[in-house]
Amino acid sequence: MPLVHLSDMINHASRHNYAVGAFGVNNLHFLKGIIQAAEERRAPVVLNMIESHFENHDFELLLPAVIAAARRTEVPVAINFDHGTSLASAERAIRAGCNGVMVDTSALLFSDNLWQTRDVVTKAHACGVTVEGELGYVPGVEGEDAKHHPGELTYTSAAEAAGFVERTGVDCLAVSIGTVHGRMKGVPKLDYARLAKIKEAVAVPLVIHGGTGLSDDQFRRLIANGVAKINYYTALADVANRRIKANIAGERKGGQNSPLSGVSDAVREEVERCIHLWGCSGRAAEVLAQCRLWHDAEHIVFYNVSETLSESEIATTLREGKRSLEAIPGVRSIRTSRASQHDGEYRYSLSIGLASKTALEILRNHPTYQRFANTNFWPMITDHIALDLEES
Ligand code: 13P
Repeated sequence: MPLVHLSDMINHASRHNYAVGAFGVNNLHFLKGIIQAAEERRAPVVLNMIESHFENHDFELLLPAVIAAARRTEVPVAINFDHGTSLASAERAIRAGCNGVMVDTSALLFSDNLWQTRDVVTKAHACGVTVEGELGYVPGVEGEDAKHHPGELTYTSAAEAAGFVERTGVDCLAVSIGTVHGRMKGVPKLDYARLAKIKEAVAVPLVIHGGTGLSDDQFRRLIANGVAKINYYTALADVANRRIKANIAGERKGGQNSPLSGVSDAVREEVERCIHLWGCSGRAAEVLAQCRLWHDAEHIVFYNVSETLSESEIATTLREGKRSLEAIPGVRSIRTSRASQHDGEYRYSLSIGLASKTALEILRNHPTYQRFANTNFWPMITDHIALDLEES
């Protein structure tokens, strides 16, 4: 079950002078290729769910597969929500199963970026979830030609970075020192002196966005100057697209899947190259030994209800409760069940799946939960047992 805390994974990389790769996952072919590369290289890896891609796939359908892949492998994995547009979308990502979030408010004024990032930190940390902030603006769009999105690059100021990190409480900081998201002509010029200054000014690990198109030497220098996480997507899309084009050009016979054949291998090869270049190879065992494993939690109540209540009255109370409780941050699932045999001690159960043990505290103290519990749930119950469970 090697889903690990993202902050621990990045801190490990930072302490040992390598960078963990955060690779954009767009579909099951990418997922397979990225996980296989990490397994092949015995490396920790971050699966990056980029919000702008959600228009191409159903995030809530894809994420269970991402979680299953993370739990099935033996290398340490973290699942990060990348370039979120709002606090609400970060809460949705935490609910769905991400254990790291980045809401990108870097295009806003310093003070707006600071307050909005701080709100995300407050909500996410309450669930134990890692938060990445960004200061300075990295233009471009992942997966597209940078020239179509020529937004103005704003460099991160080392002087502002220290205050931003301290006042927001972010766990890591994405910086703008010359990289661009997406495909670009030529190799960007990077400001290593600025990067070194930022590193000196802040106490958290640094992150680079727009990994596509950088040279091997640039990656080495970024890591030597304190970068501990590198976001990478467009190059994976490009190797995947090349493979699809070659399949179609070769008129391979077969079913509907044949244009996609070999896509996961192409992604795996590119991810393996990066993992090795960035110093991640062979780090899986030490990361697993030194980083906290991520444990989901559950609150479960077994109960009986007053005999004066009809099944439809019970169902209405539970349905309304479910609808309101689902909106509480950190609540991942709500399941109501009825015993299939009649001779057990309890007839009903209510199970609330939670992002983490700390999310249980949010639940207990939340006015919506208290209202449901005190006004609707406990009054209909005659006897019960309740358990707080943490995954083992
Ligand atoms: P590239 O697509 O340029 O590699 O950037 C990816 C990224 O920064 C995702 O956050």
